[in-house]
Amino acid sequence: MQVWTVSNQKGGVGKTTTAVALGGLAAGESKRVLLIDLDPQGSLSAWFRQDSGAEGPSVYALFKAPEVNREQVWKEIQATEKHNIHLLKASTLLATLERQSIGQGKGLVLVKALTAISDDFDLAVIDCPPQLGVLMVNALAACQKLIVPVQTEFLAIKGLERILNTLKMMSQARKQNLDYLIVPTMFDRRTQASVSSLHSIRYQFEDKVWPGMIRVDTRLRDASKAGELPHVFDPQSRSAEDYSSLYRFLQRPQGTNQTERALP
Ligand SMILES: Nc1ncnc2c1ncn2[C@@H]1O[C@H](COP(=O)(O)OP(=O)(O)OP(=O)(O)O)[C@@H](O)[C@H]1O
Ligand SMILES: [Mg+2]
Repeated sequence: MQVWTVSNQKGGVGKTTTAVALGGLAAGESKRVLLIDLDPQGSLSAWFRQDSGAEGPSVYALFKAPEVNREQVWKEIQATEKHNIHLLKASTLLATLERQSIGQGKGLVLVKALTAISDDFDLAVIDCPPQLGVLMVNALAACQKLIVPVQTEFLAIKGLERILNTLKMMSQARKQNLDYLIVPTMFDRRTQASVSSLHSIRYQFEDKVWPGMIRVDTRLRDASKAGELPHVFDPQSRSAEDYSSLYRFLQRPQGTNQTERALP
């Protein structure tokens, strides 16, 4: 099983949308996909009509269990209406974990849980809350690939530096570098802020930036309201086109980032 984490300490940059869009595309290719909602706000869960405020199976239980084995993890996983997509939904109680310190031995809960079910899925995509805490630490520890959506707007780079610092600390702790890809989102070529921030992101982070961009597209909000996967909701939309090119890029073998730098 491959594990991808979508994370950025900044809010509203397109994390949840990216997690659902990529998971949806993988499921459309007959991959067995597990979406994991680590955000107590539960936006990803809500996309699949699950309420993070309601009781029932959720990823939170795994943090409370004395140990996690395959059977236990499966108790918290639910099927969704979408073919090939299962969900580990969020709980508002996840917020209580953030208050506890990272040093309480809860940093590897997700690693253990995903290891226990690694033969059951082809891809797990983890959606993170917009802050650094024990949940993000779990997600970073569990993944092979980190996807960092960055809204192309004024001051975008500031937030980016923060998450990359976090990543550096985590990589030192893991004693292993984590492969990450910065994904420019909500790009609007008509605004100067979008164009100039895209140029600065590419200038500063070079080959760590996906050469494409996710353009601004209201169809994404409509898809989430409709509870539909973006590429199914409107296959002709520009966001469907952009996310499928991002998905193809992520499938490429590592170390081939440096080609075709598309400019707006
Ligand atoms: N490319 C886009 N174009 C236009 N709107 C978008 C785009 N991507 C996401 N959105 C919308 O922007 C809002 C924020 O997106 P999303 O929830 O994916 O961000 P997030 O980073 O997960 O936010 P949070 O930090 O609150 O979890 C949503 O209403 C979503 O529909
Ligand atoms: Mg979100």
